[in-house]
Amino acid sequence: MTKDAYTLAGTAATALRGAAGLDTFDVALVMGSGWVPAADAIGETVAEIAFTELPGFRAPAVAGHGGKIRVVRTPSGRHALIFLGRTHLYEGLGVDAVVHGVRTAAAAGVRTLVLTNAAGGLRPETQDVGDPVLISDHINLTGANPITGTTFIDLTEVYSRRLRALVREIEPGLAEGVYVAFRGPTYETPAEIRMLRTLGGDMVGMSTVLESIAAREAGLEVLGLSLVTNPGAGLSGEPLNHEEVLEVGRATAARMGVLLAKVVDRL
Ligand code: HPA
Repeated sequence: MTKDAYTLAGTAATALRGAAGLDTFDVALVMGSGWVPAADAIGETVAEIAFTELPGFRAPAVAGHGGKIRVVRTPSGRHALIFLGRTHLYEGLGVDAVVHGVRTAAAAGVRTLVLTNAAGGLRPETQDVGDPVLISDHINLTGANPITGTTFIDLTEVYSRRLRALVREIEPGLAEGVYVAFRGPTYETPAEIRMLRTLGGDMVGMSTVLESIAAREAGLEVLGLSLVTNPGAGLSGEPLNHEEVLEVGRATAARMGVLLAKVVDRL
C-alpha cells in the first residue's frame, strides 16, 4: 500500500536469502489450509525459517497453517520457497500483511507463484469433496485491494493460461473454475452461496485474490489451485467447520503432493 510495505519486503527478502544461503529462488508456493501436509512431496528440505525470524511476517493465527518458510530443492534442482501458512485479511492486520509473503518472494527473485487454498464448492453437481480445481479467474468480494494509487494493473489473465495448460498435461481431467473471495472469517450464508452461483463463481474462500493481485503487480506468473473441502453453505444440509477442512487436506495430501511436485518440476 505504502512505499514502506515494498521496502519491508525487500528487507525480508535479504534476510531470507541469508537464512537460506541462496541468492535466488525459482518458484514460491503458498500452502493454504488443507495443503500443508502436501508440502513434503515437493523436494528435499534445504532450510526452514520461522515467519517470526523475518521482518514483517507474523505467526499465523489459524490452526493448520504452519508458520514457516521451507526452502526445498526439487529433484530437477530447482529451488522452491514453500510458505507453510499465510496471513488472512480477517486477522485484521491489514492488506499489506496479507501480501507480504508474495512481495518478499518477488523481491527474492521468484518469477512463478503457486497459490493453493481450501474452498467451498459452489457446484456440487460436478465437484466432489477432495477434488483439486484449477483457478481460471477470480471475483474479489473482500472489499480490499493491495494496491493504492494510480497503478492500473491489467487483470485480464491473473491465472496464467500457460501454467494451466501445463497442469492439464499432467492431470488432463482437472476442472477449472472461478474462485470467489469474501473477507471471512464467517463462512457464507446459504443466500450468499446462491448469489455466488448466479454470479458465475465455482469455489468460495477467504484468501488468494489479494495475493494474486500483488503477484501480478510484481510481474509474477500465477498458478492457482483450490482443494474443494466442502459444499458451500446450504448446499449439503450440513453445517461447516474448520476441522472438516483440515481433515480433507490430510486425506488428500498424498494426491495433492504428487500433483504439486510434478507441476513444480516442470515450471
Ligand atoms: N467458505 C469459505 N472458505 C472456505 C470454505 C467455505 O465453504 N471451505 C474452505 N474454506
